[in-house]
Amino acid sequence: MDPESAPRIPRHIAIVMDGNGRWAERRRRPRSFGHREGQKAVRAAVEFCLRRGVEALTLFAFSSENWNRPQSEVGALMQLFLKALDREVDELHENGVRIAFVGDLSAFQPELRERMQNAMTKTGANAKLKLNIAVNYGGRWDIADAARRAALEVAAGRLRAEDITEQSLAPFFCLADLPAVDLFIRTGGEQRISNFLLWQVAYAELYFTEALWPDVDADVLAGALAEFARRERRYGLTSAQIKAAS
Ligand code: FPP
Repeated sequence: MDPESAPRIPRHIAIVMDGNGRWAERRRRPRSFGHREGQKAVRAAVEFCLRRGVEALTLFAFSSENWNRPQSEVGALMQLFLKALDREVDELHENGVRIAFVGDLSAFQPELRERMQNAMTKTGANAKLKLNIAVNYGGRWDIADAARRAALEVAAGRLRAEDITEQSLAPFFCLADLPAVDLFIRTGGEQRISNFLLWQVAYAELYFTEALWPDVDADVLAGALAEFARRERRYGLTSAQIKAAS
């Protein structure tokens, strides 16, 4: 294909995987059934990103607020994560996927934490796709955590308070080693960020689809990428300035 006509591919996609519960309820099945089906869509999204050469995919798997769901649903999700780790890590590793869990991992059971850590260690040197799974994550938590860690540097005399800028604060955030999010997708029909990545989506293109997460496949994702390729990203400049620079 002529490189001039090659579609623009986002380097970093973030997804709020919403709609598992409704997908199951519509089939008169327990919500946990929807989460189990949701795993297939996770797999489809990873394969899609590998095929399209996306560098990073960040999935919102469990928010800090999700602990407040019925205990049975939280328990089912934890079991699902454990099983998914056992089943998927080797194949992801063989495909060059680096897995990272982002969020406050201290709240999880030691068994799950250990398996998350093992997956990160095993796949840490892979570079084909950086797959980040946000668990017990909240965008405000991320901001507070970055501020706390920067404050500790100030207290230790390694950073001056007056030198805190967007640039000097950036390394303290989750995903600091990755390009900023280019495309933020939310499935399930709601048009909200819901305390997912806040700092990291400053200039992301937002894409909302009615598709419930278990129904998401390569076609739905291709639709999001096609829409992304049509958008003009101006970063505060004018359209004429962008055209002149390209
Ligand atoms: C939101 O749908 C989804 C979740 C809270 C869990 C996401 C988990 C998975 C997709 C399972 C597999 C994930 C990995 C990384 C192995 P919802 O329950 O809020 O749906 P609703 O809005 O229809 O109620």
